Amino acid sequence: MRVLFPVWELEPFIKVGGLGAVARSLPNALKQAGVDIRVVLPHYKATKMFHQRKQVLGTMYVLYGGKLIPITVSVISFLHTDIPVYLLANKHYFDKPIPETFAVFAGAVAQLVTSKLLQGWRPDVVHCNDNHCGLIPLLFNVQNIKIKTLLTIHCLSHQRKSPVVFATRLGIPIGKLRLSQWETKQKQLNFMTEGITHADMVTTVSPTYLKEIQTEELGVGLDDLVRENISKTTAILNGIDYTLHDPSTNVVLAKRYNLQSDLEQVKRVNKAYLQKKFGLPVKRDVTVIGFVGRLDVNQKGIDVLHRMISREEFDKCQFVIMGHGKESWEERFGTLATFLPNTVSVRTTYDEDLASLIYAGSDYVLIPSHFEPCCLIQMYAMRYGAIPIARATGGLNDTINDGVNGFLYRSPTARVLKETITKALVIKNTKPQDFQKMIVSAMETNFSWDKSAKEYITLYHHLVGN
Ligand code: GLC
Repeated sequence: MRVLFPVWELEPFIKVGGLGAVARSLPNALKQAGVDIRVVLPHYKATKMFHQRKQVLGTMYVLYGGKLIPITVSVISFLHTDIPVYLLANKHYFDKPIPETFAVFAGAVAQLVTSKLLQGWRPDVVHCNDNHCGLIPLLFNVQNIKIKTLLTIHCLSHQRKSPVVFATRLGIPIGKLRLSQWETKQKQLNFMTEGITHADMVTTVSPTYLKEIQTEELGVGLDDLVRENISKTTAILNGIDYTLHDPSTNVVLAKRYNLQSDLEQVKRVNKAYLQKKFGLPVKRDVTVIGFVGRLDVNQKGIDVLHRMISREEFDKCQFVIMGHGKESWEERFGTLATFLPNTVSVRTTYDEDLASLIYAGSDYVLIPSHFEPCCLIQMYAMRYGAIPIARATGGLNDTINDGVNGFLYRSPTARVLKETITKALVIKNTKPQDFQKMIVSAMETNFSWDKSAKEYITLYHHLVGN
């Protein structure tokens, strides 16, 4: 099975969000399960190469708006694996993402799979990711490229609404586009709509999210389209890479550990280290509650978190918050830390090492998301024995077993979040043995990619008809 995996971010070369982590770990799991997988993405200027040698394969041309756009294709190897990663370079379109980048990217992927640059390698399936790849399936149809396409929706909210010319410049006839008659006079092309409509199959990254996006509340205007395409849509839960996220080998921790360790003692040491790192009073009897994630108010529920910390009283709790986002939200959280220096500490840059320290040193990790296609934070937290307290939405609902390895709540309000934390604190403070059991259960929960990779492989076979 040969699979090409176009994606717009790829950890550790270029990381924006959770998709970058999935793009790193899923291909690896697929490769180990025997798939000949290759990744392709634009060669942004900001791509970190880790001293890898890139091999230039040659230049190809994409016809876009009547002009031939030269694209240099090179290949590097994924770190520690021999998965080829194709980098597509063009100064104007790919140095950094601009509005037309992903129209040209679609043209480039179509060109790549039919070009000689891959030296005879031709994918059986092109596994597209998110809106960035939305035009690829339609372009394959228009160009009569007989390769099956799968679109994975990592987040339906980002749809890439664009001028129609982005598609027509690629040679896609306007009649093939699914333009809504109710849109503005200046009709808009929607990359996500085109992807869902024209991909041979569609997946979401959790079963609950697939249910939710069929509702008006969480369907971000595409619920009818998702329902219309439901017979070709399934859900495959994300996983995490257990080698990359391992508290027994992570050298940045004050104390490394695994399930055999004295977890109470380990947590104490790692908690003290975290408190020190974040400039909080180092106290044993304090509960540390972490938050790691983008300060994105629409998705991540940071408004609820902020309201809760500013309005509610907490006895012997400290909040450690790390994430970047809009300046106004960074400022708001910064102000909380200024006025509550003994209870709140905030870092507004994302740092992988600090994230591990938070998972290892916190008692709980909060994930108050308004919606969440899957989320990986709860999986990392559980792997490190921090108990997630999360809104019962999307993948959080599918990965957390309420009262067993975490806590779930429904109503997205500061009051309900506070009540859930209080419930969690009662267990920790009055039933320490039950709390230890929860920690063990969280650490034992298996989120490795093995199962999900097999599910993708089944879909690939289904697509190619064997
Ligand atoms: C997006 C989603 C997140 C998901 C990730 C990887 O970042 O917001 O929920 O885990 O993609 O699929």
